[in-house]
Amino acid sequence: MLIAQLSDCHITRPGVLASGRVDTAALLQQAVASVAALAPAPDLLLLSGDLVDSGHPAEYARLRALLAPLRLPMRLLPGNHDDRVALREAFPEQPWAAGVPFAQSFAQWVTDLPEGAATLRLIGLDTVIPGRPGGMLCRERLDWLADTLAQAPQRPTLLVLHHPPLHTGLQEMDGMNLGEGREALAGLLGRHPQVQAILCGHLHRHIHGQLAGVPVIVAPSTAHQIALDLRPGHPALFNLEPPGYLLHRWRLAEGLVTLGAVSGDWPGPYPF
Ligand SMILES: [Fe+2]
Repeated sequence: MLIAQLSDCHITRPGVLASGRVDTAALLQQAVASVAALAPAPDLLLLSGDLVDSGHPAEYARLRALLAPLRLPMRLLPGNHDDRVALREAFPEQPWAAGVPFAQSFAQWVTDLPEGAATLRLIGLDTVIPGRPGGMLCRERLDWLADTLAQAPQRPTLLVLHHPPLHTGLQEMDGMNLGEGREALAGLLGRHPQVQAILCGHLHRHIHGQLAGVPVIVAPSTAHQIALDLRPGHPALFNLEPPGYLLHRWRLAEGLVTLGAVSGDWPGPYPF
């Protein structure tokens, strides 16, 4: 099972640069070309939030067109730059959760992926607080997660959420990671050892951490990255270092391995 995770694409309307400077559509095209060249091809394309820059329907239409060349099954989640209603309307074929209280408004899902005789479960969680940069898991969303985990306690599971439940030392970003619900999420992990890892976005940098002993893996942005500056009191700035994405390889006997990928062009490969 191969899952390509792209994150924080921040697609704008044509003619608009993200933060006045970044051609996010061109950079997503570059990432899409890189994923398209992978052999074997991924089984799933996972997009972990901040899909677009302002949540406008025209941005989602452009995102859809930019992803179309991949012809891969995909799962999408909202980030703080998204509008969950516009997202759900733009991608109506996604298996958005329904049938439980409040789920009609949250953009989240469960997907079971067959892998030989085994199955890998992915649970996408909506951590958005409309109008705010930080994220949360409220009681309704935690209850839905607890129910979903309890349905298949033996099934290896990955959680996917935009806001990482981490303190990274990137001080300004730490003020807008997963806040409310973090401790409750840690408690759920303790009761559900089938969770193999938590996949996130939001930090615009490839980062690894842990919550309750479970790996937390943060994807870089396909566009702009957060500058690596751990000095207290310094603001979060972005730069245009080479962007990329993650390739998650899962085997029942071997567990999860995550390979970092850089998108773009460079010399090589050459024999050693
Ligand atoms: Fe972002």
